[in-house]
Amino acid sequence: MNDAPPAPAATLVIFGAMGDLASRLLMPALVHLERDGLLDSATTLLGISHGKGDDDALREKLKSFVEPGTDGDAWERWAPRIAYLQGDFTDDALYRELKQRLAGNAIFYLATAPAFFGPIGEKLGSIGLLDETDGFRRLVVEKPFGTDLASAQALNARLLEHAQEAQVYRIDHFLGKETVQNITVARFGNALTEAVWNNRYVDHVEITAAETVAVGNRGKFYDETGALRDMVPNHLFQLLALVAMEPPNSFDAEAVRSEKAKVIAAVAPIQPEDAVRGRYLAGEAGGQAVPAYADTPDVAPDSHTETFVALKVAVETWRWHGVPFYLRTGKAMAARDTEIVIHFREVPPTLFRNTPNTELPPNRLILQIQPGEALTMEMAVKLPGPLVKMVPASLTFTYADAFDLGHRTGYETLLYDVLIGDQSLFQRADQIEGGWRAVQPLLDAWRSGSPDDYPAGSTGPQSADALLARDGRSWHEIA
Ligand code: BG6
Repeated sequence: MNDAPPAPAATLVIFGAMGDLASRLLMPALVHLERDGLLDSATTLLGISHGKGDDDALREKLKSFVEPGTDGDAWERWAPRIAYLQGDFTDDALYRELKQRLAGNAIFYLATAPAFFGPIGEKLGSIGLLDETDGFRRLVVEKPFGTDLASAQALNARLLEHAQEAQVYRIDHFLGKETVQNITVARFGNALTEAVWNNRYVDHVEITAAETVAVGNRGKFYDETGALRDMVPNHLFQLLALVAMEPPNSFDAEAVRSEKAKVIAAVAPIQPEDAVRGRYLAGEAGGQAVPAYADTPDVAPDSHTETFVALKVAVETWRWHGVPFYLRTGKAMAARDTEIVIHFREVPPTLFRNTPNTELPPNRLILQIQPGEALTMEMAVKLPGPLVKMVPASLTFTYADAFDLGHRTGYETLLYDVLIGDQSLFQRADQIEGGWRAVQPLLDAWRSGSPDDYPAGSTGPQSADALLARDGRSWHEIA
């Protein structure tokens, strides 16, 4: 990470430390931060879980995704700073013990089932552990943050009874991705893009997060959640906000978050006629045989949970009036591809009326978020020769060719930012609620009816294509 100074020392208290998130993403990210000299050597980790265990058991578990030999002795330096505390998240005794053990700066990372977010925040607050007289106290909350507008409002209210907004860090891990952070630079750092970034020049915008992975062993969580809740009000709306927000006055967290909140508030509540839901059938995706969603373990026999959504979204601001944003996401699709495609308007046809290939697609800017992080500008160029003939050409910048991205989990920047107290990459209460408000009509409407089928390994149900065909458009190819 570009010459950043080490963050101040703190105790990182992880609730749910024996879980998947802590070992798969948090610990490797902490090791990378240590490798890069971005942590103070007095930073420690206190892992809490309900099961019997000790410091060594926690170390063993947290080490499971640390790649041996790739990060110097960063893991060896971390290991002695890791301690385990067994406790029940709802038991006051745990918080009394924590109060005994903690002094100075502390971060409470809620890597637990969402049902515990409220109770843990409340108990930490009631016993005084969120009091900042002795050092900073910050609360990191994972997703899902609520399951609809009312539950998100209730959770915000509950947490904000015990903590200031400035102490609450609501994670959206998409914001930890380099290419997502680059959207702001691609837009505002370049006169060429920002000058045409409005409804005079942009015809429509596509935001896609396609995955080849199926639901697999996450049936219990997923069947209660579905693609809409899992991906749209959080990840896809964060991408939309970065594409559509007005320039903030500075990179100050509040300036950035206010612009994002404003644009999310301008998303018109999405109506069922502008939305498609799908559910995969058996097939092959990502080189793996995939059973039908309905046959996935822990999925209810009468489930009508969607594994795919496609939406037409209106952003009712001065800049974007009349420009549709088409969003789609799904599991078990043809390829893994997270991308944003800005489709520009056609040039006036007068000059090229009699030239071959006047049907060439208008300019497109493709922000490839993952995999193969890249930026591509698609243009028309003249085919060499005596006649004026046009052919498409792509100007592509690929991150991996220009920079050594190294191995990262995406949580490095997020954890570093919590330690230095920068909330820019975290969701403020109003953004979260704005996201839920926009999708609430669909949550209500989709209590009944069923999703449209699509074969695993495809690009979604035919109705998703029809949603764009209705407007004379088609989706950018998933590849
Ligand atoms: C998570 C969702 O928030 O994001 C998952 O719960 C999804 O269902 C994941 O697979 C996608 O994230 P990434 O970083 O793999 O694109």
